[in-house]
Amino acid sequence: MKAALKELTRKSPAAARLIFGAAEIAKKAKGAGYYWADFRRYGSVMTWRTGRRDYWKISSELIFQHHKLEKGLCLPPPLRFFGKDAADKTLELMAEWRNAGLGLDHPVYRAALDILKAYRDRLDVTPPPADFGPDLIRRIDARLADFNPEKSLPTPILPAQMPTDAAASLHAIALGRRSVRAFDGKPVDFALIEKALTTAQLSPSACNRQPWRIHFYDRREDIDALLRLQNGNSGFGRTIPLLAVVTADCSSFFGMVERIEPVLDAGLFLSTFLLAMQANGLSSCCLNWCVPPDRDLKAHEIGKIPAEHQIVTFLAIGTHEPGIQVPRSHRRPLEDCVIRH
Ligand SMILES: Cc1cc2nc3c(=O)[nH]c(=O)nc-3n(C[C@H](O)[C@H](O)[C@H](O)COP(=O)(O)O)c2cc1C
Repeated sequence: MKAALKELTRKSPAAARLIFGAAEIAKKAKGAGYYWADFRRYGSVMTWRTGRRDYWKISSELIFQHHKLEKGLCLPPPLRFFGKDAADKTLELMAEWRNAGLGLDHPVYRAALDILKAYRDRLDVTPPPADFGPDLIRRIDARLADFNPEKSLPTPILPAQMPTDAAASLHAIALGRRSVRAFDGKPVDFALIEKALTTAQLSPSACNRQPWRIHFYDRREDIDALLRLQNGNSGFGRTIPLLAVVTADCSSFFGMVERIEPVLDAGLFLSTFLLAMQANGLSSCCLNWCVPPDRDLKAHEIGKIPAEHQIVTFLAIGTHEPGIQVPRSHRRPLEDCVIRH
């Protein structure tokens, strides 16, 4: 059948147009099915109004709201009162946090207190309108009873001064990082991974929600089972001693209008993580996750990955012998990617 169709397209341009057109439509329909599956799996959890209100949702919404206050504190003059809605919502969410029994010493709650304190100090400089001001200040002061100056990381802060060799160091790390496809199989020191993660954790994210979640596997049977679902590791999969699955927690987002953010935020995290691993003596290779929905589901099952964690990429991590080779992977000229308007 396939051979006959091939022959037909070779002989008749009209038949070729028809057949290729039909194949293209079928391909697009399949692609639309992927979007639909993504919407059902991930888009449906992108809401804060329905479903379980757990730590992940409360913390994401709390960060989302108090970040508005923190940003507002850093705007240029003229200074003016701002942030009534964000302050109200922050206070509501801090109350929800407490009612949910989440720890008052938790870094997310402490950050909320730091920001609320800075906002409260600012209200002395730019007081709120008289109709709601006294009530707002009273509620903020009541919540600040939880504030402990000894545990505070004050905000806002001054921008950091860069060491003079910063640009050269970063360039050297970026230049030195090349995807490795021949690991030495030695176990990875997880302390190094944690060091790199601490750096990657500083990546920017939409409203600072930090939705990346990274799953690690170091048991051979787990690695092999997951790699069987991935199509870009042949010839070196067996040498990978540590496999990560980089995901984005879609429940960190309030709605489908944010649909690009999960993958973007996780990608920014991934990028910093790759460089930080390189700086800490670890090598890596991203492994694409271009799979149909059923395989994505299977990976969640095998990897025990929560449904709302959207898989962005697999990531091979390890060390290697000095003598191995890596592709240079020539880069396009800058003109290809810079469009100045
Ligand atoms: C999202 C993503 C998916 C990738 N998937 C694979 C893969 O499945 N197999 C592989 O060998 N390399 C994979 N790579 C590595 C790329 O081929 C590599 O990053 C690119 O050629 C540039 O080379 P470099 O990483 O050495 O600078 C992937 C890279 C990215 C960023």
